[in-house]
Amino acid sequence: MSALSPIFMPAYAKINLTLDVLGKRDDGYHRLASVMQTIALHDTLRIAPNRSGTTTCHCDLNDIKSSENLALRAAQLLHAEFADAQAGVELEVHKVVPTQAGLGGGSSDAACVLNTLNALWRCDLAAAQLEALGAQLGSDVPFFVRGGTALIEGRGEVVTPLPDAELLWLVLAKPAIGVPTAQVFRALQSEGYTQGDDTATVVGAIRAGQPVPFEHMTNALEPGVVRAFPEVAAARAALLEAGAPVVRMSGSGPTLFAPFRQLSEAAAVAARAQAPGVTFWLTHTITRSRSIVLPAPH
Ligand code: C5P
Repeated sequence: MSALSPIFMPAYAKINLTLDVLGKRDDGYHRLASVMQTIALHDTLRIAPNRSGTTTCHCDLNDIKSSENLALRAAQLLHAEFADAQAGVELEVHKVVPTQAGLGGGSSDAACVLNTLNALWRCDLAAAQLEALGAQLGSDVPFFVRGGTALIEGRGEVVTPLPDAELLWLVLAKPAIGVPTAQVFRALQSEGYTQGDDTATVVGAIRAGQPVPFEHMTNALEPGVVRAFPEVAAARAALLEAGAPVVRMSGSGPTLFAPFRQLSEAAAVAARAQAPGVTFWLTHTITRSRSIVLPAPH
């Protein structure tokens, strides 16, 4: 195999097992405490290194403008700061994870590019350096550098890896709307801020190797999004009617997830769930070692 052969890498999506919004910062961002978890749903990146000195990216979703394509911006950032002048790459992003969905698809693509090119271009950056680069691209990018189960703080850039949470089967429900993150945070009033107790409880359970306490899986952004978007309320009702005992929103939405410990129960709900315009997926959480295919950056 030539040294410049392309490789195909999975870029896994995430859900937020919890999302506490603690308050607003002076820079306009919000202080978060959240448990993030990678899931099996993923985009696939074709990454072809070359010696052209240029970075290009083609995405099979036409509505992603190149200036907003985080995968390309990740390659450009690494190239500008850490690669030698001849290093180049041709990227192709095959999207499966919906955009503006609360699943971190674009952020995961970016982290996948950072991790992979760090190895292929021999930049030899440590995880903390890749996370710092990722934070320049978006608040969710640092989490995806190591993936798995992690506590997220600050505006999203302070990542503390946790032991892998138990395997959860998930039924995802994605209404046919995109919800811009900035709009959701802007609409949140201070009465909607939370103290971080649910995140602390879930972190404690995961550290102790206990089951995730579903009753503490909360999302401070969810009430506002369910109120503002009837499509999200309808998707939530569809999951509940199909028999899901717990339904939560991921990130700033609009995607909802119902967690299960048994595949048979998740599959039964996925088979029953239906609502006009809503896409349902049956998927599951994945461990850190599965979510990062490369040797973990040190
Ligand atoms: O960091 P990112 O570009 O992904 O964030 C998108 C928008 O979401 C920000 O411009 C900001 O309005 C909002 N946001 C926030 N607090 C955070 C993360 C994001 O207010 N911790």
